[in-house]
Amino acid sequence: MSSLIQIRFQSTDIDAVATSEGRVAVIVTPDGKLDKAARRANRVTKGAVARLIESKRFEKAKTGQVISLAWPAGMAAEALDVLVLPRRTDATEARKAGVALAKAADGKPLLLMAGSQGKIEELAAGIALRAYSFDAHKTGDEDEAESSDKGDVVIHHSKPDLAEATFAPLMAVAEGVHMTRDLVNEPANVLTTTEFADRLDEMKALGLEVEVLEEDKLAELGMRTLLSVGQGSDSPSKVVVMQWKGGDKNDAPLALVGKGVVFDTGGISLKPSGGMEDMTMDMGGAGVVAGAMRALALRKAKANVVGLVGLVENMPSGNASRPGDVVRSMKGDTVEIINTDAEGRLVLCDVMWYAQERFQPVGMIDLATLTGAIIVGLGHENAGVFSNNDTFCNAFLKAADAEDEGAWRMPLGKAYDDLLKSRIADMKNVGGRPAGSITAAQFLQRFVKDETPWIHLDIAGVASVKSDTSYAPKGATGWGVRALSRFVQDNFE
Ligand code: BES
Ligand code: MN
Ligand code: ZN
Repeated sequence: MSSLIQIRFQSTDIDAVATSEGRVAVIVTPDGKLDKAARRANRVTKGAVARLIESKRFEKAKTGQVISLAWPAGMAAEALDVLVLPRRTDATEARKAGVALAKAADGKPLLLMAGSQGKIEELAAGIALRAYSFDAHKTGDEDEAESSDKGDVVIHHSKPDLAEATFAPLMAVAEGVHMTRDLVNEPANVLTTTEFADRLDEMKALGLEVEVLEEDKLAELGMRTLLSVGQGSDSPSKVVVMQWKGGDKNDAPLALVGKGVVFDTGGISLKPSGGMEDMTMDMGGAGVVAGAMRALALRKAKANVVGLVGLVENMPSGNASRPGDVVRSMKGDTVEIINTDAEGRLVLCDVMWYAQERFQPVGMIDLATLTGAIIVGLGHENAGVFSNNDTFCNAFLKAADAEDEGAWRMPLGKAYDDLLKSRIADMKNVGGRPAGSITAAQFLQRFVKDETPWIHLDIAGVASVKSDTSYAPKGATGWGVRALSRFVQDNFE
């Protein structure tokens, strides 16, 4: 697992500009105004900051950008990072500035001289979100890996106690995001269904109630579509239920349901080998549910939320399900499996049904790396959003927008649903090539009760990406943890 950086707030000590090692950052406004710390940095460097401000480079600099001066004379630091930012900013601007600082620091210890900068907690959140690297499987410089202050950040601010208090819940969310990234980045030989369940079980220490349902229990419950996906694997299928009871005892919970296919070979409908390694991220939905539950527990959310994940591995073997098989879901509807690679929906439909039967949730949100088609449609900028309830859906879209996490609503409708008709069973598990993401969502909707407000998030394009995003280095993004935490806060606390 990656180690989380520490961010501490202290009252301002202006002498630290010259004496601090690692990197030192100061803030100048876009119109070139220096605060006290920036003036001190300018003085000890014999005018380097002033010369920067006079330069073409600064003229072109945009808000939120960092300009680094290496090995500055008169300072003990190895770099002086000049952050361009107005004193008053909005949350997103402040976060992006934090991201830029973390990027420049690249894991080195950082001292930020923030003066009385506004939205300092958001700036710190930006640092926390970006300061992530997955090096669990890199051997190398042991000293560096073991040093305890690796990449730690100290922020000098005029109101350190207030900053610390407003930052705490944001750090809780960042910790949730990091957990999701760790799970999604982890290879499938390490993150087996058992290892995944164990990591979730550890969250009992945070006050979550965690239950692991094993195969015999799932069979007893009738979750045959879920079990059909995992039956070709030597790793046992599991459903994990995580309850956070921070709200009123009598309030029904919000349910979060995640697809947790720890590896998706496609099964007997085997995927081509090129790029198959990316399917380690096919547990992304379950990863987001886990990270969101961690965030809620860490920030002690005053709401009832239950997270459920279906953990399976989709493998071809003598025991795997085949195209043409017919299986009965927990709901009772039968499914003709046309393509064993359309397995996510077979996992989710049983877990979603179970969630509704057991918890009668006020609403249900499922997350899944469900279709390649959503990547064709929306790329890596937006998750696909499907819903049976405009009010519920709009509240989520608002939260996602506030967190700068791309989410775009897609349609549902009877004509799409008709594409799932089967000659021999109640439905097929695929609807053909056209509208592949929508027919997948239609399949899921057949397992949503009319009275349950529901959102399906197809995160195949956003869960893990091949280049840096606004808040994350390449690889797992943790998309959705922030939006879900805010959605809970704005609507259920
Ligand atoms: N896990 C995949 C979807 C996926 C594709 C996620 C690319 C992330 C990146 C899913 O199980 C799948 O294989 N879907 C099929 C459905 C098809 C067989 C109807 C697909 O998208 O091709
Ligand atoms: Mn598949
Ligand atoms: Zn899959």
